[in-house]
Amino acid sequence: MMAVNAAAGNDIRQKQLLKFYEMSAGSSTFEDVKAVVLSAHDNATYEVDFYSSWAENYDKDVAVLEYRAPTLAANSISKHFSGDREKAVLLDVACGTGLVAKQLKKHGFGGFVGVDGSETMLELARGTGLYQELKQSLLGDEPLPVHWADSFDAVLMVGALCGGHAPVAVVRDLCKATKPGGYVCMTTRSNIDNLEYKGALDRELKQMEEEGLWICVEVIEVKDWERSVSEKEGRYVSGVVYLYKKI
Ligand SMILES: C[S@@+](CC[C@H](N)C(=O)[O-])C[C@H]1O[C@@H](n2cnc3c(N)ncnc32)[C@H](O)[C@@H]1O
Repeated sequence: MMAVNAAAGNDIRQKQLLKFYEMSAGSSTFEDVKAVVLSAHDNATYEVDFYSSWAENYDKDVAVLEYRAPTLAANSISKHFSGDREKAVLLDVACGTGLVAKQLKKHGFGGFVGVDGSETMLELARGTGLYQELKQSLLGDEPLPVHWADSFDAVLMVGALCGGHAPVAVVRDLCKATKPGGYVCMTTRSNIDNLEYKGALDRELKQMEEEGLWICVEVIEVKDWERSVSEKEGRYVSGVVYLYKKI
């Protein structure tokens, strides 16, 4: 009975993924992209599987959504970083296709290591030629490698600290991987659907500050974070960039 259920579940997942793929193929207008994103919300498909099926169109579709998180996170790091940018090595967690590293490169940063749960997204990140190492890892299920402790000049996690993606506890791993004195930059959305997650994230970030692990450098609240795909909200959803400095 279990095997039959598992086979049926796989079949449903395959059909959902095929549907995502068909919807995202050639998507270009805001309404097309909205349908792709909403189809993921409506289905019980694993988030990284959704990204794998979206990978090929991700960059052009998020441009339609006016997704600004990679630019805003890179600006925040760039404003505060005072070391040698060419020699610095930055860890890009949930790197996706590599949009964050592309923005950081514009600010003169030279070295990137990336992690993502989706091998298909990683393949596109590999194609940018920006990363010296790329690792497939499902955060929440697997910790970051222990030998990365205290290794990176800065660690970023952009667009994946939200419901259905990585659990809040992952931020402890981000802090562990950062060199003392290095920066951790994170983003989340602050729209209605993500408020519960954001509340838990805010509590964990504060708790870690009270434990003496890091200090808060800046919190930037942005109203026009990206276009909203929900009828319940206005034209844009809001979001936040957090920058912490490891002690
Ligand atoms: C919105 S995209 C952000 C990608 C990139 N950081 C950017 O801003 O363009 C979210 C990414 O997080 C990855 N992701 C989601 N949940 C994850 C998890 N638990 N572990 C690892 N990667 C995850 C997805 O595969 C996807 O590439």
